[in-house]
Amino acid sequence: MIAKSIGIIGAGKMGEAIINGLLSSRSLSKDQVLAVEVSPERSKYIRATYGISCDDRVEELVNVSDLIIIAVKPEVVASVVTEVGKTIGKEPLVSIAAGVTIEFISKYLPKRVPVFRAMPNIAAYVRAATIAIAVADGSAVKSRSLKMVDETLGILGKVVFVDERLMDAITGLVGSGPAYIYTIIDALADAGVRLGIPKDLSIILAAQTVRGASIMVLETGKHPALLRDEVVSPGGTTIEGLVTLERGSLRGLLIEAVTSAASRAKSLGS
Ligand SMILES: NC(=O)c1ccc[n+]([C@@H]2O[C@H](COP(=O)([O-])OP(=O)(O)OC[C@H]3O[C@@H](n4cnc5c(N)ncnc54)[C@H](OP(=O)(O)O)[C@@H]3O)[C@@H](O)[C@H]2O)c1
Repeated sequence: MIAKSIGIIGAGKMGEAIINGLLSSRSLSKDQVLAVEVSPERSKYIRATYGISCDDRVEELVNVSDLIIIAVKPEVVASVVTEVGKTIGKEPLVSIAAGVTIEFISKYLPKRVPVFRAMPNIAAYVRAATIAIAVADGSAVKSRSLKMVDETLGILGKVVFVDERLMDAITGLVGSGPAYIYTIIDALADAGVRLGIPKDLSIILAAQTVRGASIMVLETGKHPALLRDEVVSPGGTTIEGLVTLERGSLRGLLIEAVTSAASRAKSLGS
C-alpha cells in the first residue's frame, strides 16, 4: 500500500534524493509528491527540475498528504513539527533527522499521529538506499500506517525495521556510510591512476568492483571474511594488498569512523 500523496518538508540534499527516487520509480506521478522548502531559490530549482509543487506552505502540504516526511536539519525539527501538528490528522509522519528521537517529535504532535524515525542514505536518489525504520512501543502506529511507510519507503531501497536504540549507530553506518565508500572508491581509482589507468576509467573500475563485492555479500549470504578468504590464494597478489591494508589499520579506521559518526548523531539529538 503505497501512499497516494507524499509531502516532504525540507527539499535539501536528502529531500531531493527522496523526490528523485520516488518519481524515477514511476510508482508515483508528479502530482502525488509535493515539497515544502524555506529557501525560495531551492523551491524554484525543485519545481523546475521535478515539476512538482514546492513552496513554503506547510498547512497546504499537510492537508493533502497521506504520508509526511520531515527532511530538515535536526535543529529545525521542533519548529517544523509544531507547525505540522496544528493541522495533521492521523497521517503517518516519518522523520529522517539524525539523532532526533520519536519521543522528542511526539511531544509536538497530537497523540493520534503515528510517528516513525527513519535513517536512509543518499542512495535514495537512485533507489538503492538502506533505510532503517524505528517505531515507538505502544505508539499510535497501526499495521495500516506501518505497511504504508514500509512500502512507500521501500521504493527507495531496502527497508529494515529496527529498535530505536540502534538508530544513532545506524546513522553512523548507513547515513554517513556512502561518504566512506566514496572515499574508498576515489582512493582505489587514484591507485589505478598511479599505475597508469586514466582517472575516469579507473573510477568506473573501482566503483563496479565495490558494487560487485556488495552484491556478492548480499546475494550469496556468505560472511564477507569467508568471501575474502576465497579470493586470497597462497603466495598470490591479493594477500600482498591485504597485508598493506592491515599495516595501515584500514579495518580499525573504518570502525572508528562509524563510531565517531554515531556519537555525533547522538549529540545532535540532545
Ligand atoms: N545528507 C544525508 O546524507 C543524510 C542522510 C540521512 C539523513 N539525513 C538527515 O536528513 C535531514 C536533511 O539533511 P540534508 O543533508 O538534506 O540537509 P540540507 O541539504 O541542509 O536540507 C535541509 C533543507 O531544509 C530546508 N529547511 C530549513 N528549515 C526549513 C523549514 N522550516 N521548512 C522547510 N524547509 C526547511 C533547508 O533550507 P535552508 O538551507 O535555506 O535552511 C534545506 O534546503 C537532516 O536531519 C539529516 O540528519 C541526511
